[in-house]
Amino acid sequence: MSEDKPKGPYSDKVMEHFENPRNMGDLEEASSIGTVGNPKCGDVMKLFLKIEENVIVDAKFKTFGCGAAIATSSMATELIIGKTIDEARNVTNSAVAEALGGLPPAKMHCSVLAKEGIDAAIDEYLKKTGKEEG
Ligand code: FES
Repeated sequence: MSEDKPKGPYSDKVMEHFENPRNMGDLEEASSIGTVGNPKCGDVMKLFLKIEENVIVDAKFKTFGCGAAIATSSMATELIIGKTIDEARNVTNSAVAEALGGLPPAKMHCSVLAKEGIDAAIDEYLKKTGKEEG
C-alpha cells in the first residue's frame, strides 16, 4: 500500500474493482443482453446474462462510462452470478454501492446504471422466453 497514492472520494474496494473489473467482456451464448443508458451523464452499460433454469450461471458486462460505473458493473455481476432471476431482481442499486464500501453521493446514480442493466437483461430474457410477468 503506497502512502502517496491519491485517495480521492472512493473506497479502496471501488478503486480495486475499477482497476481489476470482474467479468468484463462479451458473453458468447448469452441468454439475454440488457443495454441501458444513464440520462444524467450519457454513460452506457451492456450486461450479458447466461441463464439456466432461472438461475444466472454467468454474467459479463461492457460499460462505456466513468470509474464508478465500471466498479458498480463489476460488483453487480459478482452479486448476481449464482442467483435466481427473482433474487437478482431484488438486488438494489444501494446494495451494489454498499458491497463496494459506499459511493460518494454524487456518484450514486452510477450504481443505478448497474441496477437498470440487471433489470433490462432480465426483462429481455423473460420476453424472449415468453415468461414475461403480467
Ligand atoms: Fe455516468 Fe457514472 S458518471 S455512470
